[in-house]
Amino acid sequence: MGRAATGGEVYALVGGLAAGKTAFARGFARGLGIDADITSPTFGIVNEYRHGSLPLYHFDVYRIKHIQEMEDTGYEDYFWGGGISLVEWADIIRELLPPSAVFVRFECDIDRGEDYRRIEVGI
Ligand SMILES: Nc1ncnc2c1ncn2[C@@H]1O[C@H](COP(=O)(O)OP(=O)(O)OP(=O)(O)O)[C@@H](O)[C@H]1O
Ligand SMILES: [Mg+2]
Repeated sequence: MGRAATGGEVYALVGGLAAGKTAFARGFARGLGIDADITSPTFGIVNEYRHGSLPLYHFDVYRIKHIQEMEDTGYEDYFWGGGISLVEWADIIRELLPPSAVFVRFECDIDRGEDYRRIEVGI
C-alpha cells in the first residue's frame, strides 16, 4: 500500500491494543522508502517523515481527551495536504476524518495463535 500511494490518502487504523497498527505503519513507511524507526509519537500526536517518496504523517490519537488537542496539531494541513496520513485509534477523532478516509481494521484471534492478525481494508 505504501508503494501504491499517490499522495493525499488518509488511512484510519482501528483495532485494540497491540493489534498491529504501528507494525502496519512501519511497513507502509518502508513502501514509501522511509527507513526510519517508526514508533508512535512519545510527545505530541503526530510524527512527520519527509525523506520518503511522499511525506508521511503518523498520528496516534490514543491519548486525546478533547478534540481541541487535535485542532492544535493543525491536522487539516496534514489531512488535506499532498502527503499520506496514517491515524492510529482514528475512531476517537472520527468526526474530523475526511470522507475519503479509508479504514483499516486490525483484529487478533488468540485461538489462531499469537501472531495471527485479521486486517480488513476499506470497511
Ligand atoms: N501483522 C502482524 N503479524 C504478527 N504480529 C504482529 C503483526 N502486527 C503487529 N504484530 C505484533 O504485535 C505487537 C503489537 O504491534 P503494534 O505495536 O503494531 O500494535 P498497535 O496496534 O500499534 O498497538 P497500540 O495499541 O499499543 O498502539 C508487536 O509485538 C508486533 O510485532
Ligand atoms: Mg501503536
